[in-house]
Amino acid sequence: MIGSPDPLHRAVPPGPPTPIVRTAGADDVPELVRLINAAFAIERFFKTGDRTTVEEIRDLARRGEFLLLEETQGSALGCVYWTRHGDDGYFGMLSIDPAHQGRGFGRLLIDAVESRCRAAGCPRIKIHIVNLREELPPFYRRLGYAESGTLPFPIPEKATVPCHFIVMTKSLA
Ligand SMILES: CC(C)(COP(=O)(O)OP(=O)(O)OC[C@H]1O[C@@H](n2cnc3c(N)ncnc32)[C@H](O)[C@@H]1OP(=O)(O)O)[C@@H](O)C(=O)NCCC(=O)NCCS
Repeated sequence: MIGSPDPLHRAVPPGPPTPIVRTAGADDVPELVRLINAAFAIERFFKTGDRTTVEEIRDLARRGEFLLLEETQGSALGCVYWTRHGDDGYFGMLSIDPAHQGRGFGRLLIDAVESRCRAAGCPRIKIHIVNLREELPPFYRRLGYAESGTLPFPIPEKATVPCHFIVMTKSLA
């Protein structure tokens, strides 16, 4: 019809790019170390030193998978590690760049990890949280996780106050 706007040619203002989740590779190890150590600097109030090293990330990658969240190629927003503990899925080192926290990216990476565990046939997924991080159980409870046990803190020589892990579990059925 003459005079009516052509819907195919309407100018659509560009929105923010949709972040993508991809499997990290060997070239991504330095970026993973940077992200994890930056995010886990929050744990300095009870632990000495950095959260991780290049050697630890390479070792973990042999037994599981790191996922990277990127806004544009090469611009990492966050990462997470997942593997299997027996039949169950397990994830850890969930890290969002401090400059990008509170934008829903943590939740997005948890969704990605849960999807991978479901696809791998895991009936449940678990995470270990240091008991001193009191803000974390409510965060995970809102996402369907529940406390299911405790474990000793694996590196007590790095802890500056007594602490332990709380295990939180979610059914993927
Ligand atoms: C914890 C962490 C992964 C959350 O990621 P994020 O992108 O900041 O969180 P999101 O924006 O996805 O928030 C998801 C929900 O959790 C809440 N939330 C996020 N961080 C929180 C915190 N520190 N305390 C309480 N609630 C929190 C948000 O309000 C939101 O709730 P809503 O959906 O009901 O509004 C991120 O803050 C981080 O990297 N922290 C340092 C490393 C760490 O502690 N990792 C987890 C170890 S188990």
